[in-house]
Amino acid sequence: MKIVKKTSELEVLVSLFKELGLKIGLVPTMGALHNGHASLVKKAVAENDVVIVSVFVNPTQFNNKNDLATYPRTVEADCALLESLGANIAFTPTVEQIYPYPDTRQFDFTPLDKVMEGPMRPGHFNGVAQVVSRLFDIAQPNKAYFGEKDYQQLAIIREMVRQFNYPIEIVGCPIIREADGMALSSRNTLLSAKERQIAVRISQTLAKSQSLLKEKSVKELQQWVIDEINKGGELEVEYYEIVNGTTLQPISSWNDCDNPVGCITVYCGKVRLIDNIQYKK
Ligand code: PAJ
Repeated sequence: MKIVKKTSELEVLVSLFKELGLKIGLVPTMGALHNGHASLVKKAVAENDVVIVSVFVNPTQFNNKNDLATYPRTVEADCALLESLGANIAFTPTVEQIYPYPDTRQFDFTPLDKVMEGPMRPGHFNGVAQVVSRLFDIAQPNKAYFGEKDYQQLAIIREMVRQFNYPIEIVGCPIIREADGMALSSRNTLLSAKERQIAVRISQTLAKSQSLLKEKSVKELQQWVIDEINKGGELEVEYYEIVNGTTLQPISSWNDCDNPVGCITVYCGKVRLIDNIQYKK
């Protein structure tokens, strides 16, 4: 595996791959890699000739300076894992390599970016679109891999590809969980052992809510999930929305769509955790 730090170096390699007719798979990440990321990389390795994994903590998508400062960084371990998974290139650029000049582009993904994480993290999805479009331009992948863990992000990336006609297939990958159900996240390493034990209530409550779907209305189920997670006072739900899985707009009845998704954000101490469930009707 080659570790590439310079954009110009990656561009030279990509043009060579293109000349050779090789299919390129891209997996964008912010590092602190875990089995969730690994599942994306494995799928990319199985489906492409060349796999590029970017490891870049993108400052433009952080609306909170402290969150950016405390974001875990483990680039050496990340590269070792990527090599063992069969990735061909780890792209680990500096901020200057990705943004040689300030990125002033403003994206609009209405209505997808006007709900949930959109208003809670102003500028977040604009920053995600900035970096992902930069990575698409540099790596020119045939396929790019994103996790359903960030359900809204995946929907927005699909919309970006549609708006700008990128010739890229977006591959959504299922959420990878710990044995107890907790969704893997780089942010889990910021939890104390006690917080980690408490935080499992998020995924367990979502899983339990599936079995109540037939007996509760959308509003009732939404409130039940919020109360169940908040009770005890150790966790604080920021939002729990049950939305149409395509438009991401809140639904008021189970008959409103075929693919209802429950998206949640919860604070466990200072750590902000997200998860979701695709309900089966
Ligand atoms: P990051 O949080 O590092 O996640 C990189 C990719 O891994 C995302 O597509 C995310 O959805 C996926 N992922 C994370 N945890 C997962 C899990 N438990 N199961 C399955 N997939 C999981 O998302 C970002 O970085 C950034 O916003 C990025 C797209 C790289 C742009 O900076």
